[in-house]
Amino acid sequence: MLRRLHNDQPESFAFTEANLAWANEQITKYPAGRQASAVIPLLWRAQEQEGWLSQRAIEAVADMLDMAYIRVFEVASFYFMFQLQPVGSVAHIQICGTTSCMICGAEDLIAVCQEKIATKPHVISDDGKFSWEEVECLGACTNAPMAQIGKDYYEDLTAEKLADLLERLGKGEVPQVGPQNGRFGSEPLGGVTNLKEFVNGAITLNASAQLAHDIGDTVKRIDGTEVPLRAPWGDQSGRRGEGLANAQPPKAPEAPKSAVQQAAAEKAAAENTKETASEPEAPGVKPQTLEAARDGGPDDLKRIKGVGPKLEALLHRLGFFHFDQVAAWTADEVAWVDQNLEGFKGRVSRDEWVKQAKEFAAE
Ligand code: FES
Repeated sequence: MLRRLHNDQPESFAFTEANLAWANEQITKYPAGRQASAVIPLLWRAQEQEGWLSQRAIEAVADMLDMAYIRVFEVASFYFMFQLQPVGSVAHIQICGTTSCMICGAEDLIAVCQEKIATKPHVISDDGKFSWEEVECLGACTNAPMAQIGKDYYEDLTAEKLADLLERLGKGEVPQVGPQNGRFGSEPLGGVTNLKEFVNGAITLNASAQLAHDIGDTVKRIDGTEVPLRAPWGDQSGRRGEGLANAQPPKAPEAPKSAVQQAAAEKAAAENTKETASEPEAPGVKPQTLEAARDGGPDDLKRIKGVGPKLEALLHRLGFFHFDQVAAWTADEVAWVDQNLEGFKGRVSRDEWVKQAKEFAAE
């Protein structure tokens, strides 16, 4: 397929402040002189922000990494995970059309896209919400036919299931990702022969499907404010970056020669303030907790966007059972909870739990 820059380009591109901070942290993962290794995550974040990659976005990433524009364009045009033209405002549907999927019904899925979205690929639907394309094997052949939507896989599809997914996405829902026929992963259709506890026990979703369920934002545009600024890999001295959760995004560069040089300057500045930065982070204030839910039982905390079964169970273990408890958290208390959600740190502020809980508590 011919992949080229779109003929209608925006005048400019800029990362949001939070995404710029995230991007600069990505660059610190690589040794000096190897910053080009960050090209794919930076392009991906630009796409998550805008929905697609414009020429200006490609050039902005090239400037940040001190790369020639053509080198970054080569990457963006090679991988079909990168969209070089505007896509639907809700989702771009990528249907795998390679052998396994084709044998198992990919053509039926494409027919659904042609009927519900547009007869031709890369054309945005009349309501502006969707676009689609056929892509090569996405590596989920045992769950054929399948589609990638946003950053997730929807597998074991049928025409009816895909039509239903489109309808639900169009209404603003985020359908459960993963196998759509009840399979846990890619076990035989006739049922598992071992590791049965994973399929028949308490764990009902495979790890990636569970993560997508917990995050709940598969098709969301990302401006960076949802993502906690944490860089556990630390800086190039090997110091872990645990204290970055509340770090201020870096200031806009003053006409830097290159973003790499800017990153080096910022690193030097960070070294100068190392003493202060290495102070342990304020732990916040522990909110009041309950031994158990009040009479009537706990509220369904999973109604809070981003809270899945695992997070709800963790909240119960910490002593939180009701929306009014969450709604009453102060900023210091939010900081404490954010730090104590093992495996889910930063979710309270990221997903604005207090605001959501206030609405549920008022019902
Ligand atoms: S053939 Fe479709 S995922 Fe491999």
